[in-house]
Amino acid sequence: MDHNEYRARVRSIRYFNTDTILFELSCPEIASFAKPGQFVNVSCGKFLKRPFGIAGADKDDGMIKIGVKIVGHGTENLSLLKEGDMVDILGPLGNGFDLDSFDSYILAGGGTGVFPLNFTYDVLSDAGKDVTVVFGFRNREQVVMAQEGFVVTTDSGDYGIHGNVITGLDSLVLKGNPCVLCVGPTPMMKGVGEWAKSKGLRCFVSTEQHMACGVGICLVCVCKTKSDVPGEDFKHVRCCKDGPVFDFEEVIL
Ligand SMILES: Cc1cc2nc3c(=O)[nH]c(=O)nc-3n(C[C@H](O)[C@H](O)[C@H](O)COP(=O)(O)OP(=O)(O)OC[C@H]3O[C@@H](n4cnc5c(N)ncnc54)[C@H](O)[C@@H]3O)c2cc1C
Ligand code: FES
Repeated sequence: MDHNEYRARVRSIRYFNTDTILFELSCPEIASFAKPGQFVNVSCGKFLKRPFGIAGADKDDGMIKIGVKIVGHGTENLSLLKEGDMVDILGPLGNGFDLDSFDSYILAGGGTGVFPLNFTYDVLSDAGKDVTVVFGFRNREQVVMAQEGFVVTTDSGDYGIHGNVITGLDSLVLKGNPCVLCVGPTPMMKGVGEWAKSKGLRCFVSTEQHMACGVGICLVCVCKTKSDVPGEDFKHVRCCKDGPVFDFEEVIL
């Protein structure tokens, strides 16, 4: 089903720390067909809608979750919302992850990338797939969405394993050929993609380019992927419409 615009009620608001918030929004339409790795564009008062990965969806309850880190005017505006307020949401947008083609998965994330990976974890676990999660954060205060059994690393070493996501991946005892799904800052995705390559594993990354329309029209979000046209090194693709999920072997980060 294609995306649409909906009006959603803010059902609950939870602060993890001073600048990171989890919203539960009533939006039965998006909840019923959202896929992990997809995102929604959310109204932020007078500013353009901003993109956020879908952090969870409950079809029966008609609810979706988004996690928001306050970094600028749009997200500051979202932080002013109160329970019961209404927001406009466009979605679900983008392609999402392929969760069918592999029996086991490693989810590697950092920063706000942990939000879409939380939804991915829920769906894979419900499907009975073998799933390992490695999340990396700067320090204990930034640790969010970490469930029991997840491997957590911090740069500061004040929580979990001292190091970064790669340190966490290196601590795993690999079984079979899991597919690696990664969402996080670009240097992290490059590192995780190279790690996966060195182990002979497939890896898909979710790009977080600056976006405007979110539906493939404005071309604000273009990035490069390898081209199979002779003499052409790359081609441009739209992260919002053709992605945000790309094969690490194809996308040029
Ligand atoms: C597909 C997708 C999924 C996303 N998922 C989440 C999510 O789940 N949770 C979350 O908190 N954020 C997510 N983001 C990032 C979020 O959209 C931006 O942080 C937000 O748009 C910033 O809006 P602002 O007006 O507050 O900040 P602005 O005033 O627009 O920018 C403030 C600062 O943030 C930087 N910034 C803005 N947009 C991005 C971006 N896309 N990537 C990197 N830096 C950016 C700007 O360069 C600037 O330094 C996602 C982005 C994309 C494209
Ligand atoms: S954000 Fe407009 S084309 Fe992608």
